[in-house]
Amino acid sequence: MLKERKMGKKVTVVGAGFVGATCARRIIEKDLADVVLIDIIEGLPQGRALDLMESAPIEGYSAQIIGTNDYKDTKNSDIVVVTAGIARKPGMSRDDLLQINAKIIKDVVENIAKFSPNAILIMVTNPLDVMSYLAYKTTKFKSSKVIGMAGVLDSARYRFFIAQALGVTPSLVNAFVLGGHGDSMVPLPRYSTVNGIPITQLLDIKKINQINERTKNGGAEIVGLLKTGSAYYAPSASVVEMVKSILLNENRILPCCVFLKGEYGLKDIYCGIPVRLSKNGVEEIIKIDLTKEELESLKNSSEAVKKNIKKLNI
Ligand code: APR
Repeated sequence: MLKERKMGKKVTVVGAGFVGATCARRIIEKDLADVVLIDIIEGLPQGRALDLMESAPIEGYSAQIIGTNDYKDTKNSDIVVVTAGIARKPGMSRDDLLQINAKIIKDVVENIAKFSPNAILIMVTNPLDVMSYLAYKTTKFKSSKVIGMAGVLDSARYRFFIAQALGVTPSLVNAFVLGGHGDSMVPLPRYSTVNGIPITQLLDIKKINQINERTKNGGAEIVGLLKTGSAYYAPSASVVEMVKSILLNENRILPCCVFLKGEYGLKDIYCGIPVRLSKNGVEEIIKIDLTKEELESLKNSSEAVKKNIKKLNI
């Protein structure tokens, strides 16, 4: 158990694997919150947590982390990041993980809802859009409190590839990738800028199309290189940007996977669109102008997600 909250806020990270442990590390290194790391494997979260606490004297953070296999320790968390599940191996699509991860997620979020009924959930487990929908339906939390992490990651990849193509520093590039977290994601060059200059004025269409394609395959490219798992540095950085916006009530506008009730012509579905993230979770769904083709791509992306939701009989 955490003896006392040092940071005032408590974040539980479910899954002490690559993504979960790296999230936990980033959160405590930034002194954002105390962290409870929970996993089904005995010893794994405890070992990772102890190792991280032993880094505190050198790194200089005050936040605490504990590892556990018992959901009681997660009680009254402000935010819960869910990374539990199986990651992709080469040749697997995110959809191949569907049935295995659905079982895991159902069990995990039932436990979370029992001990932290007021938490904001950030879902990471793939296939992301479907797992976010499943978590929302299972917990019956307000939809503003169940948010999937995908758009920040896909946009970060897009931003990096644009920066690389132009030879500029990545943080200068702002970009939006919307839609599902899969092959049908929708990069938006019109809304992508370098210090305010649209990339459509800086790169030719052929190069932009190449970057769009590389972004769509960004996850698979890493899986292909690693061979034994999937990406975790950029995913965890993306989660922590969302955690920070919520804990510090920053109201960042970020592309997140959220429940739609008719916005963008989409209903009863989780889809990646820009939202304002505050201490309440999704404070506002931002409606941006999309062309007919962009709207069509968003719709196609959602159709693919709907098909998978049907397979689960939620
Ligand atoms: N409860 C808690 N933890 C679980 C459960 C469960 N029911 N089932 C599995 N886990 C844990 C595993 O024991 C493992 O430690 O989830 C962890 C997953 O870690 P990794 O295998 O290292 O996978 P990782 O790379 O972290 O990816 C996790 O995030 O990006 C997504 O596609 C990715 O769905 C995958 C998830």
